[in-house]
Amino acid sequence: MSVIKCIGILTSGGDAPGMNAAIRAVTRSAIYNGIEVKGIYHGYRGLISGEIKPFKTENVSNIIQQGGTILKTARCKEFQTTEGRKLAYETLRSEGIDALVVIGGDGSLTGARVFAQEFDYPIIGLPGTIDNDLYGTDLTIGYDTALNTIMEAVDKIRDTASSHERLFFIEVMGRDAGFLALNGAIATGCEAAIIPEISTEIDQLKELVENGFRKSKNSSIVLVAESPTTGGAMQLAERVKNEYPQYDVRVTILGHIQRGGSPSAQDRILASRLGAAAIDALLEGQRNVMVGIRNDEIVYVPFSKAVKQDKPINRELLDTLRRLSI
Ligand code: F6P
Repeated sequence: MSVIKCIGILTSGGDAPGMNAAIRAVTRSAIYNGIEVKGIYHGYRGLISGEIKPFKTENVSNIIQQGGTILKTARCKEFQTTEGRKLAYETLRSEGIDALVVIGGDGSLTGARVFAQEFDYPIIGLPGTIDNDLYGTDLTIGYDTALNTIMEAVDKIRDTASSHERLFFIEVMGRDAGFLALNGAIATGCEAAIIPEISTEIDQLKELVENGFRKSKNSSIVLVAESPTTGGAMQLAERVKNEYPQYDVRVTILGHIQRGGSPSAQDRILASRLGAAAIDALLEGQRNVMVGIRNDEIVYVPFSKAVKQDKPINRELLDTLRRLSI
């Protein structure tokens, strides 16, 4: 196995709070171990076009607290083609980059997996997505901050819901996963969460909402995960409005506010631990794995598992939500 003298680092896909903390940790940990670092801008797109700059410790000063990613990010169609990946490989060769650290979600790590196999090239992935949908790690970088953003927003909407005695449907992100919706609902005392993992019939929804209004409460908030499976908050609200006109229904779509802001302490610590562990993994000769944390311990998860296997929702949480929303 050849010695790694220089690594490249990039962020790809949707930005997530804590990505900068991860960039800092990878950079500093690499330099600490005598490895040179090059920052690759705009994700795989910059890898193809050669948007690369040497990184010293000062390039990552004062960024641990910043949201977004100083390396910028992109969703790159060209990298999905053999031709695009060939160009990316040529850039790595000409820049003398011996290994890559890729921070991103499902799509980004899928790209990493294909590239690593195609060129027998060492890549370490870090789970960076607010969706928390990568298998093999308890948490992904950005998820906790997004959850806190949702909590603050829903708390505010609760004031209006309760003053006007309204039924709110609030749509949160998550792509095809319900982690943000389910845990967001528990954290804010919502009446229900509609998530893609569990099908919800309109009758069940009615029961949940009526229970909310009948008892001590005068308002109801339902968190809805964005997904073709749930239909999203708009569609659900329309159906409820048509069938139960007695409710004063409103919809809020939280949108990209969920991706922004300064990372929480938990995300900064997670990103710092994972970033340092990415360098340990490379030094140990690990290849083509995502570094995650399970039960507070660093784990290496093969890309094939991290992106292919569905991360299950803890059904106990659903039961907790149901029991506490009476
Ligand atoms: O994967 C992160 C995420 O924010 C998803 O929750 C959401 O479905 C998607 O990205 C939105 O992507 P974009 O910013 O490209 O609209």
